[in-house]
Amino acid sequence: MSTQQAEPESQEAPKDPEMQGAESPAAEKQKEGGMVDQTSTDASELEGETVHIKVFRYDPEVEGKQEPRFDDFHVPFEKGMTVLDSVMYARDEYDSSLTFRHSCRQAVCGSDAFFVNGKQRLGCKTQIADLEQPVRIEPLPHQEVVKDLVVDMDHFYDQMHTVEPYFQDEDTPATEDLEEQRQSPENREKIKMSSRCIWCGACMSSCNIAAGDNEYLGPAAINKAYKFAMDDRESEEIKEHRLRILEQEHGVWRCQTQFSCTEVCPKDIPLTEHIQELKREAVKKNLKFW
Ligand code: SF4
Ligand code: FES
Repeated sequence: MSTQQAEPESQEAPKDPEMQGAESPAAEKQKEGGMVDQTSTDASELEGETVHIKVFRYDPEVEGKQEPRFDDFHVPFEKGMTVLDSVMYARDEYDSSLTFRHSCRQAVCGSDAFFVNGKQRLGCKTQIADLEQPVRIEPLPHQEVVKDLVVDMDHFYDQMHTVEPYFQDEDTPATEDLEEQRQSPENREKIKMSSRCIWCGACMSSCNIAAGDNEYLGPAAINKAYKFAMDDRESEEIKEHRLRILEQEHGVWRCQTQFSCTEVCPKDIPLTEHIQELKREAVKKNLKFW
């Protein structure tokens, strides 16, 4: 059985005896009462120090680990260390059962979106030196937790597929007569940002509307629909078909322009703007002149 990530109890359990008690300059600053700026810690200050991370743990299949908790790890800092590097170190050196997804390590595959210090971020794109310590690493909120930092992405993928995320062209010949489908530079520019999505799910996890309405398509799926709806190479009929999907009860009109999705997207996609533009398109489609 999986669980929603919810207010786990913190548990102090340092995994590296040699590292216990070692405090980084950032942690010392905190002890002295000074807040550490989220973006101003100089990486050189951390060299030779350890970084304190608190990692969410939950394993429904192991007795004694079914109660969510946090484990503490003190990881030797290296210049350029990312949040993903730190959990990989913790897994490789201290606890091989620590579970999370990752692959490319360069913000391309979208598999390591975590909730880090209260914000959705890609582990491999987030410098540990930029974060206040202890760095709190949790699974994405509003998703079922499968184990530790791994969440169930099925619902997210289902919503993505609802908008038919593939190019459709009624006129494309089905044989060897296929021709290159050219796109104008202007049109390419228009959909450029929307095509950067890596399906990480950070935006969906940050969205209050999606949290309260399980059927809401969500910002990523709507952005995916935008990419195709705004592509001049698709016909007007197909664009209308796409808008019909988007203007349904749980589509674009659910968005309340809170911008949380836009703020967390690691690829800087202007999601809220795209949703607003599709709302305008939907209105235009339904305007009638007598
Ligand atoms: S739109 Fe941005 S945050 Fe949402 S899934 Fe795509 S890359 Fe991730
Ligand atoms: S590991 Fe692929 S996006 Fe971070």
